[in-house]
Amino acid sequence: MKIIVKENYKEMAASCADFICAYINKNPGRLLCFAAGDTPLAILKKLIEMQETGRVNLSSVYYAGLDEWEGLGYEDKGSCMQVMQDNFYGPAKIESERLRVFDGKADAEAETSAVLDFIKDKGGIGLAMLGIGMNGHIGFNEPGTLPDFEGGRVVLSDNSLNVGQKYFDKAQDLKYGVTLGIKTLVAAEKVMLVASGEKKADIIARSLSASNEPALPASYLADHPDYHVFLDKSARA
Ligand code: F6R
Repeated sequence: MKIIVKENYKEMAASCADFICAYINKNPGRLLCFAAGDTPLAILKKLIEMQETGRVNLSSVYYAGLDEWEGLGYEDKGSCMQVMQDNFYGPAKIESERLRVFDGKADAEAETSAVLDFIKDKGGIGLAMLGIGMNGHIGFNEPGTLPDFEGGRVVLSDNSLNVGQKYFDKAQDLKYGVTLGIKTLVAAEKVMLVASGEKKADIIARSLSASNEPALPASYLADHPDYHVFLDKSARA
């Protein structure tokens, strides 16, 4: 595990974008999987700027969705699909054939099969950029998830439901999510975990000092041979 600590969120985002850009330039044709949520936003913005200045061609790789709130689609502000489309796939001009995300309004198990098939067809995940929930979740792999979970419909924890309201402009009555599972994520060639801010310091400290602990799903990444944790100083208290 490599831990990269930057002075602040902006510097952390720039460092993550450099890392992703280098991966794409070396690995055209591979598939990337990015978390939605707040933490990746500046990273995604930076990647788009890099494309605009000719440093990277974001359409030289493929993308798979990581997760989605069951019941939400593009028209719902705060859905993973809306966040990723408006902040990345749209401005980066990624054509629809290059990506497969979860549709939270469709059948969760059928969506999971389709996303997993897309990933397998492209040779597996090359690079996964994951965030971490306040309870240690990665994607929607909630505490208690077992390592052989490939992906599918999950019951969301109260913590994820409460924290998740920050993404929405109106109260959402949610109970389930759909996600790539631990087994699929640890099979990625390269994994990044990104976290920013004091509020993440405790869960980061606990997750990084554990290994394969179901109560701390991010700890399943501990033994990954190519694992990079990007933090800002305040998340590394
Ligand atoms: C979102 C996702 C989640 C988030 C996590 C952190 O697609 O998979 O696991 O990465 O909840 O979210 P933020 O970055 O908003 O703190």
